[in-house]
Amino acid sequence: MKFLRLLLILFVAPLFAQQGGMWVPSLLKGMNEAEMKNLGMKITAEDIYSVNKSSLKDAVPHFDGGCTAEVISPKGLILTNHHCGYDNIQSHSTVEHDYLTNGFWAYKMEEELPNKDLFVTFIVRIEDVTSKVTEGVASLATEAEKQKKIQENIATLNKTLPKESWQENQIKTFFDGNQYLLFVTETFRDVRLVGAPPSSIGKFGSDTDNWVWPRHTGDFSLFRIYADKNNRPAEYSKDNVPYTPKHFFPISLKGIQENDFTMVMGYPGRTQEYLPSFAVEQIVNELNPAKIEVRDAALKVQDGFMRKDNAIKIQYASKYASVANYWKKWIGETKGLKKSDALSIKQKFEKDLQTKIEKAGKQAEYGNILNEFKTNYANIREYALARDYFTEVVQRNTEILSFGFRLYQLEQVYNSKGEQAFNDRKNNAITTFEGLYKDFNANVDEKVFEQLINIYATKSPKQFLPSTLQNINATQLASDIFKNSKLTSYNGLKELLNGDAKSVIEKLNQDKGYALVKSISDVYIKNVFPRFEEMNLKNIALQRTYMKAILELSPKSARIFPDANSTLRITYGKVKGYKPADAVTYTPITYLDGVIEKYIPGDYEFDLPKKLVDLYNTKDYGRYADKNGKMPVAFIATNHTTGGNSGSPALDANGNLIGLNFDRVWEGTMSDIYYSPEICRNIMVDARYILFIVDKFAGAKNLVEEMKLILPSKK
Ligand code: ARG
Ligand code: GLU
Repeated sequence: MKFLRLLLILFVAPLFAQQGGMWVPSLLKGMNEAEMKNLGMKITAEDIYSVNKSSLKDAVPHFDGGCTAEVISPKGLILTNHHCGYDNIQSHSTVEHDYLTNGFWAYKMEEELPNKDLFVTFIVRIEDVTSKVTEGVASLATEAEKQKKIQENIATLNKTLPKESWQENQIKTFFDGNQYLLFVTETFRDVRLVGAPPSSIGKFGSDTDNWVWPRHTGDFSLFRIYADKNNRPAEYSKDNVPYTPKHFFPISLKGIQENDFTMVMGYPGRTQEYLPSFAVEQIVNELNPAKIEVRDAALKVQDGFMRKDNAIKIQYASKYASVANYWKKWIGETKGLKKSDALSIKQKFEKDLQTKIEKAGKQAEYGNILNEFKTNYANIREYALARDYFTEVVQRNTEILSFGFRLYQLEQVYNSKGEQAFNDRKNNAITTFEGLYKDFNANVDEKVFEQLINIYATKSPKQFLPSTLQNINATQLASDIFKNSKLTSYNGLKELLNGDAKSVIEKLNQDKGYALVKSISDVYIKNVFPRFEEMNLKNIALQRTYMKAILELSPKSARIFPDANSTLRITYGKVKGYKPADAVTYTPITYLDGVIEKYIPGDYEFDLPKKLVDLYNTKDYGRYADKNGKMPVAFIATNHTTGGNSGSPALDANGNLIGLNFDRVWEGTMSDIYYSPEICRNIMVDARYILFIVDKFAGAKNLVEEMKLILPSKK
């Protein structure tokens, strides 16, 4: 027993310690490269990022500014998630060609579908420009002046730093303003839809299975990048040709096992790994619970209607999914932060840091940061809470209030910029509203309003409640507003917006719905927002100094990585199961058998195409089956990922593609704030399942033929 524990400490602990973190691909040499090799990687840092030769980074573009994709053929074929390609698949869908329901496959290049506004961005090179960006900043007195100067420097540098005419410069901050890196990029705007499975495969399990392991979703879609004759970015043209990439990923069919090395490259959006304990405490105990309560109420109402009425289900499905996504994430995050005792871990870290500050004689510079954080987070508390309630109730989840708030902003435009600006905004708004009202049902929203306005009136900080929300009867208020306000229909809205600025504003102010939104928003804009911003700016400045102290005073071996900021990162780890609860163990790989186990014919989340069931029954898996004869579907590993990593390539020790990232496990969603290698896992579709669907299910052999497959060695 003692021996075992010793082994655990000596062996497992250091290996676990080498996981977590999202690293900048141009800065891997040294610690990261050594760790990666130690975990099993067979290639070098130079193979991943190089300015002198093609490297893995050349095959990983940012997809549409929010997701990640990877190039998988010499002809510019790219792979990303189904949920990342969703809007484009939807925009080509009609009643006759319902690609969302039935899938879409181009069997020839001529059949590929162009997408207005879709773009992918590659990184050409990364350079440190910290000293240039911070020139002339230190001598400035206030934080606001400093921020302004930095923004000016960045704008100038973006214009003046060398690049080719078809490239862009983008400077981003790292470590909360302690480092600035330049990304020279190339953006391609002719990106065509090549393939998508039916939603019953690509979205199998839908919201019930979202953030959940074990998972059985084939969350992928295929696109192709087109370039001009010189292989450079170009707007859509039928004369464009398939892009020849500097690198594309071979796809390995060799299979994976627990403890195999994996890495994931992609564009994680936002993390907050270095928040002080005071901030984490607020998220766990106040902000997350408040946001969860609001969304919980809204989702329950919508779900009730959607289950009874198919038309409402179609109208609300996409909205519901997007509200439910972060609702579910926050619940998992809150639980995970509690269970992993993240708060005590942060507090201990802060105590240690304080000791180091004193030992290093740096009290003058850093000695007071934690105290200031403490005061500042105590002061901002009510404002942060009021802000979250306002965002969630007014701007996000009660549609009539969010419509009203758009109109409130319109009135502000009139007050600040005059009639012309007002008219421009108004005409845009009328178009936007047409889309919004198409998926609006007043009966649903009245019930949502009743629930959410009641939460706002009883739970948000009292001092910021307008008189219109004091001692209300929510049911009565809802019925009054929905009976009398013109905001309940698109026609009513157009009536309100008809006429010149003065008469529109007069009509708006006489409308009961608008008047209510205005009373809430006035208090928010006057009493909450400016104070919040002021204190938040202080926290931003403090956070920069805090981060500087951490960077300066931590030992060389400390694994300090910059928070995610939508730039290219690499994360690495091992294929691994986990224990979500006492006596429960999850293994790391799922199979098609599990898809069939979840199959509910006719259900909107768990239905399956007949052809997939047939392929399962005949075990017609071709060369894509695992050595045990089963069809692998998804797997998990200790890679540290977040939103934005959707569609990221999962690579093996040789840099070959083995999967496609699309989610995290629910118990580990706190990794945005605190990563624990014991419970944080990313979820990937197995590349073999993707190929099986493309080849055996869709019969798109043309696509498989342009890929480079690495086959298992014959026994
Ligand atoms: N949870 C995944 C990611 O944030 C997938 C979201 C899309 N799927 C869904 N069922 N809503 O963001
Ligand atoms: N589904 C997420 C995305 O769209 C990735 C999952 C995560 O947050 O880790 O980026």
